[in-house]
Amino acid sequence: MDQPKKKVLVLTGGGDCPGLNAVIRAIAKRARKEKTWEVYGSIEAFNGVLNEPTEIVKLTSRRTAGIHVKGGTILKTTNKGNPLKFPYIQPDGTIKEVNRSEELIKKIKDLGFDAVINIGGDGSQRISKELYEKGLNIVGVPKTIDNDLSATDMTFGFQTAVQIATDSFDKLVTTAESHHRVMIMEVMGRDAGWIAVHTAIAGGAEICLIPEIPYDISKLVKRIDARYKHGNGFLNIVIAEGAKPKDGTLVARQGDKGSEHVRLGGVAFQLSEQLKLAGVKADIRETVLGHTQRGGTPVAFDRVLASLFGVKAMELVIHGEYGKMVALKNNSISYVSLEEATRNYNFVDKDSFLVKAAKGLGISFGD
Ligand code: F6P
Repeated sequence: MDQPKKKVLVLTGGGDCPGLNAVIRAIAKRARKEKTWEVYGSIEAFNGVLNEPTEIVKLTSRRTAGIHVKGGTILKTTNKGNPLKFPYIQPDGTIKEVNRSEELIKKIKDLGFDAVINIGGDGSQRISKELYEKGLNIVGVPKTIDNDLSATDMTFGFQTAVQIATDSFDKLVTTAESHHRVMIMEVMGRDAGWIAVHTAIAGGAEICLIPEIPYDISKLVKRIDARYKHGNGFLNIVIAEGAKPKDGTLVARQGDKGSEHVRLGGVAFQLSEQLKLAGVKADIRETVLGHTQRGGTPVAFDRVLASLFGVKAMELVIHGEYGKMVALKNNSISYVSLEEATRNYNFVDKDSFLVKAAKGLGISFGD
């Protein structure tokens, strides 16, 4: 008689990120080889479990075939579904947060799931850690275009974001050069400036502004003046959405109701105004790349990293190694405890070789 199969539930949480589908496919493929596991997906992170009726789909080969090439996530995602602080919008518009973790864990077990794989960023891994401590068999897979998780050398999605930003940068240089303009390109990166620094080096920017290094506007004016001193200059700036001037504040917008974080975006316009006020005479134009950096097909590197993470996560489940997050460490795929995974952020170190090399290439950070 056939053994009853074990069941693993996969979900994607937080912002979408190129490579999520490659992880889902890899988990499903690796599980299929085992013959003793069935793979299911919860729609919109944990909401698929909490909703009535539940929204859970079986990840058959028909559903996962060829999806590694596609951006986004076939399982959908949300940043308004934290089961530890589940946001309910009240009739007066305020938010009431309710801890639904016990209900969630009970439901996952009642539905017959033996394990969960949570693919997400820092916030999702913190949720995984708490659910693990409350008794859920869970494994994490790190994702974010921001590359701000310290327990892995790199997250998938980051290389795709850098490629998209670099392609856009190249397109802006031609206008800067033709019109003798200062072009400001704003990239994502709430707390960490990885996308900005890599794009600035790849594209050949003159100025790169990141959250880790508050900038001095007078230093930027000096750099711009030096470029225009013989007339007909032009200059390209990359700024991360979380960058701010010395003694200045973040440019934040009202967040969506129930969302975990404030919305950033628009810092390029603030910088443009600051430069004009400080006396920059050249024409300035601003471009905010926004979500284009998370869209479209993942580059090959991200497809590979995501696939390796997916296989490893399923292998952790097969061996009953719960409470772990898969990670890239020293060029090999390993894992760390969820405790270690959520301990620190991965910031750009202003004393790192990366920043020193950028400065060696003539890039000013405004410090
Ligand atoms: O964390 C990834 C990220 O893309 C950030 O760089 C950005 O600030 C945020 O997500 C945007 O989130 P949302 O899609 O919710 O606006």
